[in-house]
Amino acid sequence: MSRASWDALIAACALPRLDARAIAEQASGRSRTWLIAHGDESAEPAAAHAFDTLAARRRAGEPLAYVLGWREFHGRRFEVGPAVLVPRPETEGLVDAALERLDGVPAPRLLDLGTGSGAIAATLALERPDAAVLATDASAEALAVARANATRLGATGVGFALGDWWAALPPGGAPFDAIVSNPPYIADADPHLLDPALRHEPPGALASGPEGLDAIGTIVAGAPARLVAGGWLLLEHGRDQGPAVRDRLLRAGFEGVATLPDLQGLDRVSVGRRPQPAAGDRVV
Ligand SMILES: C[S@@+](CC[C@H](N)C(=O)[O-])C[C@H]1O[C@@H](n2cnc3c(N)ncnc32)[C@H](O)[C@@H]1O
Repeated sequence: MSRASWDALIAACALPRLDARAIAEQASGRSRTWLIAHGDESAEPAAAHAFDTLAARRRAGEPLAYVLGWREFHGRRFEVGPAVLVPRPETEGLVDAALERLDGVPAPRLLDLGTGSGAIAATLALERPDAAVLATDASAEALAVARANATRLGATGVGFALGDWWAALPPGGAPFDAIVSNPPYIADADPHLLDPALRHEPPGALASGPEGLDAIGTIVAGAPARLVAGGWLLLEHGRDQGPAVRDRLLRAGFEGVATLPDLQGLDRVSVGRRPQPAAGDRVV
C-alpha cells in the first residue's frame, strides 16, 4: 500500500492550514521549512499515525496548545496541559508593563499570584536574572507544570508556594517590589465559559464570582500590606473591567492608577502604586 505524503495528509485532515502544519511539525519532528520543501515525501507510518491522532483531537475542539503540549510566550516555549491555562499573548503586555516599572530597581522581589504554567514568573526571572520571584497557585497540578517549565528554561530565580491567594505566602516574608497577577476574571454566568475553546481549560483558572471580580478584589485588598512603598500592583482583567479595577485600586489607596491598552487598544491591564511615605511621615 502506498504511503501518503505530508502534503496529502495536511490537505486531507480538514483543519485550517496553520493548525495542520503545526501538527505535522510535531508529528514528523521536522521544521516548517523542511515540510514545505519535502511535503511530497511519504510520511513514516508512525509519524502519519501520530499526525492523525493529534489532528483528530484538534478537530474535536481541543485547543492547539494542548494538542501540541506547548505554547510560545514572550519568545519561549512553555509546556502546557489541561491543568493550566494556555498563556495568552495579551499577558505578554502584563509582563512588559512590570519589566518597565522595575527598570532601575536593583534585585527586585516579585510575586506572581496564580502562576498557572509559570509563564509570567519564569519570564520575569529570565528577563531580570537579579530578581527573586515567588510564584503561587491554588492548584498543585498547575504548580508542578510551572516548576517543570521554570526548571527546563533555567529560570533559577523562581520559588513556588501552594495556596489560596495571600494564604500561600510564607509568614513574615519581606515585601515585594511588584506583584503581578493574571487571575480568573470571567463572571460565573458568562456564556463565553461555554465556548468550546474555553471548555478544555481548568474552570478554576477562568471564573471568579458573579461579576468576575472576586479574585481581583481579594488581590487588591491584600496587596498594599505586601508591597514596599512605591511598589507596583499589576493586574490583567477583562476588557470591560478597567473602570471597576481602577475603582478598587483607588479605594485601596493606590496611586498612579491607570489602565494600559493592549496592542489592539483594549483595556486589559490595570496598575497602581503603593504610595511613598511623604517627607516627615513615620515609616512603619
Ligand atoms: C487566568 S489563570 C492565569 C495563569 C497564568 N498566570 C497565565 O497568565 O497564563 C489563573 C490562575 O489562578 C489560579 N487560581 C485560581 N484561584 C486561585 C486561588 N484562590 N489562589 C491562588 N491561585 C488561584 C488558577 O489555578 C490559575 O492557574
